[in-house]
Amino acid sequence: MTRDGQRARGRSRRRDTDDSPGAGSAGRGHGEAAGPVLRAVGLARVYGEDESAVWAVDGVDLDVPTGQTLAVTGPSGCGKSTLLQLLGGLDRPTEGEVWLGGRRVDDLGERALARLRRRAVGFVFQAYHLMDELTAAENVELPALLAGVSPRTARRRAAELLGHVGLADRARHLPSELSGGQRQRVAIARALVNKPLVVLADEPTGNLDSAATHDILRLFDELRAAGQTLVMVTHDERVAATADRIVSLRDGALADDTPLNTSLDTESGSTRLGTLLSWED
Ligand SMILES: Nc1ncnc2c1ncn2[C@@H]1O[C@H](COP(=O)(O)OP(=O)(O)OP(=O)(O)O)[C@@H](O)[C@H]1O
Ligand SMILES: [Mg+2]
Repeated sequence: MTRDGQRARGRSRRRDTDDSPGAGSAGRGHGEAAGPVLRAVGLARVYGEDESAVWAVDGVDLDVPTGQTLAVTGPSGCGKSTLLQLLGGLDRPTEGEVWLGGRRVDDLGERALARLRRRAVGFVFQAYHLMDELTAAENVELPALLAGVSPRTARRRAAELLGHVGLADRARHLPSELSGGQRQRVAIARALVNKPLVVLADEPTGNLDSAATHDILRLFDELRAAGQTLVMVTHDERVAATADRIVSLRDGALADDTPLNTSLDTESGSTRLGTLLSWED
């Protein structure tokens, strides 16, 4: 607690003199075309108050360039899921800023934030989070319909994406009629249906055996080749090793930042998935 108090005071001082990127133009939402697609500045999230306060995320600065596959690792409870939720606008930071596509998003109102989440972010969760009563195809269509896409276009996109993840023949199945790996492939198709700026995945292979994990990694590889930015939280070293870069968290703060594959050979648009992701309505 004392340590938390000290850290909090240190942080306030830092913030008072902060001249970091974005701070000068806060709220203006200027275009920053060549900048990172996703940016965290001094990001912090505190759960609870006073003695029970937990700094789940504690002063994270992070830039994710377009097309990068970033793995986030670290021990249980270090703040990985909290960070991902902040980056995707599922949660609000206690301090700091989140920028998406050159626009500050942490200070948006509820409706604008919900719209942004639907259109600009694709989420993939360990437990899939599919709607049990909807078919695979309907699960994929739903975010497109919510984003205002016509039913006909939503149906077409869902069919194409399900085909791409190898589930054309399972489109009418309910999640309960699918294996874990198949469910996760539906969830990935759903995450892609609105052509998001970033895909955020929290332990996407955490419930899968090695064959299904391999399928998911192959899909992620295709995402990378299509130029899709991806941030994935993972405990699995083999999964992390497929990323372009690994950052690790400890007690909510960045402890390490290691580039792996620096040759980002994205032939954007030349892959079939690239074509799907660059659809015009
Ligand atoms: N809703 C909440 N209320 C209070 N504390 C929370 C809440 N959610 C998370 N925490 C705490 O914040 C810290 C970070 O949690 P988080 O879920 O982000 O960790 P994680 O790195 O994703 O862990 P795991 O690898 O086990 O999924 C933990 O100490 C956790 O207990
Ligand atoms: Mg977690």
